[in-house]
Amino acid sequence: MVDAKELAGSKIFLVEDCVDYIDIVVETFAHMYDVIVSRNGSEAVKVAMEEQPDLILLDIVMKGINGYEVCKDLKKNKETASIPVIFLTGMTSADSKKTGFDLGAVDYITKPFETEELKARVANHLIVKKARENLVLQKQLLEKKVEERTFELKETSRKMEMASIEAILRLSRAAEYRDDDTGNHVFRVGVYCAEIAKKLGLDRGNIKKLSMAAPMHDVGKIGIPDKILQKPGKLDEEEWEIMKQHSLMGAKILEGSSSSIINMAEIIARGHHEKWNGKGYPDGKNGEEIPIFCRIVAIADVFDALTTERPYKKPFSIEKSLKILKEERGKHFDPDVVDAFFAVKNIILEIKEKYSDVKKIDGSVFWSIELD
Ligand SMILES: [Fe+2]
Repeated sequence: MVDAKELAGSKIFLVEDCVDYIDIVVETFAHMYDVIVSRNGSEAVKVAMEEQPDLILLDIVMKGINGYEVCKDLKKNKETASIPVIFLTGMTSADSKKTGFDLGAVDYITKPFETEELKARVANHLIVKKARENLVLQKQLLEKKVEERTFELKETSRKMEMASIEAILRLSRAAEYRDDDTGNHVFRVGVYCAEIAKKLGLDRGNIKKLSMAAPMHDVGKIGIPDKILQKPGKLDEEEWEIMKQHSLMGAKILEGSSSSIINMAEIIARGHHEKWNGKGYPDGKNGEEIPIFCRIVAIADVFDALTTERPYKKPFSIEKSLKILKEERGKHFDPDVVDAFFAVKNIILEIKEKYSDVKKIDGSVFWSIELD
């Protein structure tokens, strides 16, 4: 609701060529509003643009351009279109009034008029204008608040998601520490995957997600006993069956999350030991039945495992490891993924070098992966 006091200092623009009426209007409003006057219809639009009055009192019959034409021009102009116009005229016919309203006037007052009536009508229209402006202002404030709150909510949920991911990354690393004294295997796999995925043309969102989800692929190893995980020799059949459980245990640890990254990690944990020819585990899926993220992690994981020393094995040379990957093209691995791997081989070798000897790397390596 607008208080009449809020109208003090409003600016009224009178377009009138009759001196007597100018005097009456100026006198009527002098102590209430700021009144500016133009006796010339042709300069009215220019003055209105400059002065931005709160209301225009417009005569119709004037020398040169008449009030109707002025009103038309005011309504056509973006800067003056919303200023309320009241015709103040000696033309009393119904047709004249209709024309005035059709042109967009908010009111039509005929001369001679009662000054009290003029005051009341002008005040009413000023109140309506003020209320409209307040509404626009409130709407803008509300929109700004909603925008700020939405941003805060998004930021909070992003932070919560990152905190969950960080916790799982640390768990994955803890699992990895048991057979890799730096625990960096999981990080390298994430970065390799991003490079392979880029080469395969995956979209930016999925590449970023994959780079954060892939390092969780072996989180299920947390449930594998040390005597199996760290056994120096070959696993017997029973031990191997237990070892294979890590993919399902990983999926179980990651299931039911509201984070799309952890959802992807769950798919990867379950499917990263599936093979293109259907001879993998746990589901024996083949070809494109295996999600693309799993097919990418499969090659990144095997390459890193082959070239890394473990308690039970010496590292293979890069040459020998690459030869094995090539031989497994179309058998263990998706042929397209093998081709993508070899297309970015040099970058992968650089990553391997960069993260091999570093004892302390943290999750920030994934937040900062550049996708361009
Ligand atoms: Fe694994």
